[in-house]
Amino acid sequence: MLKNITKLAFCLGLVNGTFVVCSQQKNNNVLNRNEQYNFLSENELHNLMKKHKNLSILNRKQTEHILSLIRDTNADIVSFRKNADRLIRILMEQALCQIEKKKYVKQSPLGLYEANEVKYDDEEICIVSILRSGNAFLNEGLKVICGASIGQILIQRNEETSMPKYYFEKLPEDINQQQIILVDPMLASGGSASMALQLLLNKGVKQENIIFLTLVSCEQGLNKVFQQFPNIKIITAQVDPILLKDINYLAPGIGDFGDRYFGTIKKNTHPIKV
Ligand SMILES: *[C@@H]1O[C@H](CO)[C@@H](O)[C@H](O)[C@H]1NC(C)=O
Repeated sequence: MLKNITKLAFCLGLVNGTFVVCSQQKNNNVLNRNEQYNFLSENELHNLMKKHKNLSILNRKQTEHILSLIRDTNADIVSFRKNADRLIRILMEQALCQIEKKKYVKQSPLGLYEANEVKYDDEEICIVSILRSGNAFLNEGLKVICGASIGQILIQRNEETSMPKYYFEKLPEDINQQQIILVDPMLASGGSASMALQLLLNKGVKQENIIFLTLVSCEQGLNKVFQQFPNIKIITAQVDPILLKDINYLAPGIGDFGDRYFGTIKKNTHPIKV
């Protein structure tokens, strides 16, 4: 009984004094493939954005069709890639929406108008990919920002300790002068994102100049990243209700995004080890 009350209190966020969304915290370490998950309500998403002023969640109407196709475990690689690319394209355009604009007067074929354009040249923007899955953003990213530079950071989770470990980085020398778009398809516990962000800060990048794009995230990961880096911006297509902590996967989630996007598993296999 007491345990249940504590659980409820935790769920309502009374324990740490802040209001959190938390619709379903039950069994969040157990993977049950027959469980049906409820997505966060509009109200819960709204509260999450109220809590984190620098968080943007894409309009559900704009993304639910595409995301449903991507989540489907029966999607073949052609469909998976095509739809992941569509969603990534939307996120990339959203990133540009959030970058400061410069205004000036330009000529259309018919007259003058006030142009409102991203204040950076392409070359002043760096897309930083958290390897391997972040590379999935490069196809569409480079269509939107053709002249962007590409940075790469390899962080992998130690299978035994579950802790992220840094391996490699290759970043432009003048990265501290650039507008950064950091990309990783999934934000689960937030461990690797935090590590990558810290690395960028150590290179002199300002938080204000970082936009982090992620297809699917969860409340725990968002909390962790914003706690450490309150001045970055995060844009996510969807916030999933459950983080399966032991295996660090989101539910209902997408599965192993990298394996599915890069074709390193075959469809209808369930490679997620529990
Ligand atoms: C959001 O980020 C901006 C800078 O990018 C910062 O000035 C502001 O304080 C942040 N908002 C919150 C609620 O932390």
